[in-house]
Amino acid sequence: MRKKIVAGNWKMNGSRYDAHVLLESIKQGAGTLSGVEIIIFPSFVYLQQCEETLADSLISWGGQNLYLGRAGAFTGEISGAMLVDYGCQYVLIGHSERRHLFYEDVNLLAAKYKAAQYVGLQPVLCVGETIEEREAGKTESIIQQQLASVVEAASIDAFRQAVIAYEPVWAIGTGLTATPDQAQEIHAFIRQVLAAYHPGIAQSVRILYGGSVKPDNAKSLFAMPDIDGGLVGGASLDAKAFLAICQAAMYT
Ligand code: PGA
Repeated sequence: MRKKIVAGNWKMNGSRYDAHVLLESIKQGAGTLSGVEIIIFPSFVYLQQCEETLADSLISWGGQNLYLGRAGAFTGEISGAMLVDYGCQYVLIGHSERRHLFYEDVNLLAAKYKAAQYVGLQPVLCVGETIEEREAGKTESIIQQQLASVVEAASIDAFRQAVIAYEPVWAIGTGLTATPDQAQEIHAFIRQVLAAYHPGIAQSVRILYGGSVKPDNAKSLFAMPDIDGGLVGGASLDAKAFLAICQAAMYT
């Protein structure tokens, strides 16, 4: 039985005050939700607030990105060791905004995946196709490529306990959501790709759906057999909506 995860990706949003209010509300509301794992991915500058507010709760937190190595002359970057220093357990790798706006390629992302694991962080590897790729019938080959590049660089063993997020780029922040059937089809495909390397690992990996997850669509998405929760952007900035999505994960 794979425990469901609901993760909030705050992206470059919020203020110190907003983070305080949001974290306190989520912590209070999540008090009884032990059947779902909740993770918050704030902007780096609010990680300390996560540690201070959430340390005595069941909620985990993580970084939205990292750079390679422990320390060095990499102006503007944050290392995995620094994330660990702030109590992070997770880190997002390969979010489509990193791939498309910041030109992170498959080789860099594979190196980041390994760097995260090296310091004991659990990477959440994001994959997904653009609308052009979907319309050209390339969804599966794109996902296959995005996964294989990391599996081959890091080894399938690095996917024990792994978390993957399928986020169709056309559904991110657009209000367009993949239907439960569309999402399920790709989640099953992701498991099939991993099963070619190791069937047992493929079954244990948790695969989250991301792309306009909201309280009103969460339940039907999470009810699908290969959808193990959600990576939530916009709705994670609203405590009530985020908690409703966590509730939906509890009861599916
Ligand atoms: P969204 O973002 O929920 O606002 O579509 C999801 C994400 O980018 O992780």
